Amino acid sequence: MTKSLLRTELCDMLDIKYPIILAGMGGMGGPVSGPQLVAAVSNAGGLGVLGCAFLSPHKVEEMIRKTRQLTDRPFGVDTLLPPDIPLTGSTTELKAELPSLAPSGAADEPDAIEKLRKELGVPAPSGGKGYLGRIADDTVWSQEDLEKQVEVIMEYRVPVWAAALGDPAPYVKECHTRGIKIIGVVASVRGARRLVLSGVDIIVASGAESGGHNSRIGTMVLIPQVVDAVSPVPVVAGGGIGDGRGLVAALALGAAGVWCGSVFLGTFEAIYEDYHKQKILESTEDDTMVSKVITGKQARYLKNRLIAAWHEAGLPTLPMPMQSISIIPILDGAYEAKMADIVPAPAGQIVGMIKELKPAARVVEEMVAGALKVLDKLPSAGTAARRSKQAGSRGHRF
Ligand SMILES: Cc1cc2nc3c(=O)[nH]c(=O)nc-3n(C[C@H](O)[C@H](O)[C@H](O)COP(=O)(O)O)c2cc1C
Repeated sequence: MTKSLLRTELCDMLDIKYPIILAGMGGMGGPVSGPQLVAAVSNAGGLGVLGCAFLSPHKVEEMIRKTRQLTDRPFGVDTLLPPDIPLTGSTTELKAELPSLAPSGAADEPDAIEKLRKELGVPAPSGGKGYLGRIADDTVWSQEDLEKQVEVIMEYRVPVWAAALGDPAPYVKECHTRGIKIIGVVASVRGARRLVLSGVDIIVASGAESGGHNSRIGTMVLIPQVVDAVSPVPVVAGGGIGDGRGLVAALALGAAGVWCGSVFLGTFEAIYEDYHKQKILESTEDDTMVSKVITGKQARYLKNRLIAAWHEAGLPTLPMPMQSISIIPILDGAYEAKMADIVPAPAGQIVGMIKELKPAARVVEEMVAGALKVLDKLPSAGTAARRSKQAGSRGHRF
């Protein structure tokens, strides 16, 4: 009976038991939300979302197939649609177009990236096993390739597509024809209004606390304003939600569910370097930083020496994806040498709440149990919710 208090319109829309969505987490070295994590969350009653940002269409296909082998529950795929990236070009082709970052541009001046690599004590990449070796065949950066990712999602009729950093308008009609629900991931009220006009089914608004690309606005402030702006389209709250208290708070702000990334970094299934998982267990709420140095767009990471040194050197940041491509020589050596403080680790401010690694299903179960405990502590609110339920309301007022 009490569990039904957490049943929101999101659960009906997505055919899930709990209004908990695993955020699609991609990464510079590949997906963080891979098939195992996605299936674990979907099997536990939430919605798992594959992090397919910048993955080759072939790799997206492989991840969808693997996920289907692990769960028969609904799941989603997250991709990025930045409008301001090159139309075409492979990593090698785009690398050839990088502008010089040498401060004076003098030909005999050591390349700024090479200088920084040495200052940071990152060994020269030996080729093959480092970052470039990991991504060479699997990473795409151009609009042409990102469009092909969407074609794969449509071909496989994945139940949910989460589109971030851009506008999925051109694909909405075809997705709906194929029964695919679209989540638009936004960082502002303006962005939410725009994507609702484009026809998305659900808005995810992710606040400043978020790991990865985030908003300048805190979740507590962002959510109610987005809810007011796009009602009756359901809004899902992201950024800083790590337990049942956060889930109830999000519902209280008018959200229909939560979009959680960082809390799942503390799970066995997350594809996240072991040394970063260890760092997360030791982190406090103040151990992350925000910067454009890794992708060219503002995002939150565990504190990182490369980011700090880049800012200290006063180097400019290039637009996406050129910024990422420019730092490949540093990442290459850092991955090889397993340098936890140089390899970028997107993470949000809730890392301070993660004290042990656990299975992803337990994260979902504990979030649900914790939320019900909070609701139990609010007797009059709980009664109101029960009454509204008995009256046949599908809402979650309490
Ligand atoms: C490791 C990591 C990778 C992420 N990668 C992506 C991504 O590829 N696409 C995306 O839409 N959001 C990405 N995000 C942001 C999440 O989708 C989500 O907005 C955020 O994790 C929510 O806040 P939280 O980290 O406080 O839970 C990433 C977040 C993390 C922590």
